[in-house]
Amino acid sequence: MELFSKKLDLAKSLTEIKAKNGQIGLVPTMGALHPGHLSLVQQALDENEQVVVSIFVNPTQFDNPSDLNKYPRDLEGDLDLLSGLSQNIWVYNPEPDDLYDGDVRSKSYDFGALEQVMEGRFRQGHFDGVGSVLNLLFRAVSPNRAYFGEKDYQQLLIVKELTRLESLDLEIVGCPIYREPNGLAMSSRNKRLSEDGLQQASLIYQSLLWAKDHFDQLSIAELKTAINRRFELRPEFELEYFEIATADQLETVTENQGETSCRGFIAAFLEGVRLIDNMGLN
Ligand code: PAJ
Repeated sequence: MELFSKKLDLAKSLTEIKAKNGQIGLVPTMGALHPGHLSLVQQALDENEQVVVSIFVNPTQFDNPSDLNKYPRDLEGDLDLLSGLSQNIWVYNPEPDDLYDGDVRSKSYDFGALEQVMEGRFRQGHFDGVGSVLNLLFRAVSPNRAYFGEKDYQQLLIVKELTRLESLDLEIVGCPIYREPNGLAMSSRNKRLSEDGLQQASLIYQSLLWAKDHFDQLSIAELKTAINRRFELRPEFELEYFEIATADQLETVTENQGETSCRGFIAAFLEGVRLIDNMGLN
């Protein structure tokens, strides 16, 4: 396993792999790695000769400085987990100036309707920051494939749109959500929850599951009322949104139309930690 802090050094080493026609897989992360991240890395190892994992807490995608400061960081632990998986991983862990060429600012993207809802609506500038850092990473690594979790489903669709807007030639691979035994979607942010909080947080998963189980029987309005009620009964939570949207375009669904593939999305605060999750409903 090798650790790079400069993108030029990484690019130089990758040239040799590319010269031999080797396939390169990229897994972008913000570190504080958990089994959800590792499942992406494992899939990338299965499908490519060389895997690059980036570990970079990207300042431009945080709309709230305290959220950025509190974001968990554990490079030593991350390297241990990755080397336990394979020696065939290169880690890119840059300072912001290296990746951003000294100008740590977002580009402004037009992701259309995809960014008008949910994470785009509640986190100002978030997807411009995500788009900017991924554009830089994709250009630095030139991977054949890049791997993203459905945990951040809206991000996955935004990344696909980014590759179109930036005319980037790579495959974006979506990977299933990895969960705790109680259903809670694994997330670096879970490290900030208490023991109690980790148990309580399964309400998010349970609510999505309930919505899925009742999707055929109830109207969208009834589903929304019921889910909102579940959260009202648990004052330790602050529900930011429960949305039902089409799986391909994230258009808000107001009526259950049968064939259209729909997903439920939740963002909620618990113990001051913002948690998100989503699930296919039909
Ligand atoms: P981060 O939250 O570290 O997540 C890195 C990748 O791991 C994302 O594609 C995310 O969807 C995936 N992931 C996280 N938890 C998962 C889980 N429980 N199951 C499956 N996949 C999971 O997302 C980001 O970082 C950043 O926005 C980034 C894309 C790196 C840009 O800065």
